[in-house]
Amino acid sequence: MKRLLLCGLPVLVLPLSVAGCSGIQSALDPAGSQARSILDLFWLITWVCAGVYAAVVLALIIGLVRARRTAEPPNGPLALDPGTERRAGWTVGTAIVLTVAVLFVFTIASFLTDRGIASLGARDDALEIQVTGNQWWWEVLYIGSDPSRNFYTANEIYIPVGRPVRITLKSNDVIHSLWVPNLNGKQDLIPGRENNLHFVADRPGTYRGQCAEFCGLQHARMALTVTAVAPDEFQSWWDAQLKSAPEPMDERTRRGKQIFLSGPCVMCHAINGTTAQGRTAPDLTHVASRATLAAGTLPNTRGHLAGWIVDPQQIKPGNHMTMNLLPPDDLQALLDYLEMLK
Ligand code: CUA
Repeated sequence: MKRLLLCGLPVLVLPLSVAGCSGIQSALDPAGSQARSILDLFWLITWVCAGVYAAVVLALIIGLVRARRTAEPPNGPLALDPGTERRAGWTVGTAIVLTVAVLFVFTIASFLTDRGIASLGARDDALEIQVTGNQWWWEVLYIGSDPSRNFYTANEIYIPVGRPVRITLKSNDVIHSLWVPNLNGKQDLIPGRENNLHFVADRPGTYRGQCAEFCGLQHARMALTVTAVAPDEFQSWWDAQLKSAPEPMDERTRRGKQIFLSGPCVMCHAINGTTAQGRTAPDLTHVASRATLAAGTLPNTRGHLAGWIVDPQQIKPGNHMTMNLLPPDDLQALLDYLEMLK
């Protein structure tokens, strides 16, 4: 119920020019059955409430106009007139019955919407994804038919059009909340607990989402995208993500890899196919294939990547990555290596 109510907040449409994070983010432009049923409920409540508001204002105006016209009763302003009393009683009684009826309709409609949203969870063919909230990025684990087909990525989710997705939500630190308005309402990620969120995209596109629960200094810079693609395109994306990082082919990228593996990077990051297996920061096996850096904060370009490596605190103060004041040549070699991790 909470996620239904929160969707009615004024923050329904956000103009999106945030960093390189392309994609739409609007609860008014549903791309899936669940977002659509939430929107239907939103419009039902909005229009009925607008009608009630108009009726109340109209009654007020009529009352004011009448009061001016009516001459003062002969027995003084406080004298009771049985006719007026009866009419007032009927009016108040009717208003109470209508109010109860409207609230009853809203309750039933909310219940049916919530049921519709939950029904997707019963599907066996659902794609399984685990999303873990971290200050301030999203770890995404794809769960394949067997463990050898599992892989990690971060801040960007790909899903096949038309297939339901079941997301298990976890948190490593504080409470976060996953909200992709075009696809569904929001759901909390709570430390020590598992929540679920389901959605299905019925048309291709990139849908922006963001953390919807204040989780610290960089809560506003905790975005993600969900990209819905055709099923065969999704399969090739999955196969590509499963592969280990490509091996350096020249001296410069070999040096970049060496700098990565001998530096503090390996304490937190993982690159499959190397000894770097840290899990407290985004998996970088295919970092060059992502559109943004730092959870939607920056477009993924060489310049931004360099700025992020050297002084991440300047860009996203309070995040867990430290400064890396590498000599210029080392930094360029490291960038060469990271840029080949497609
Ligand atoms: Cu995570 Cu707000």
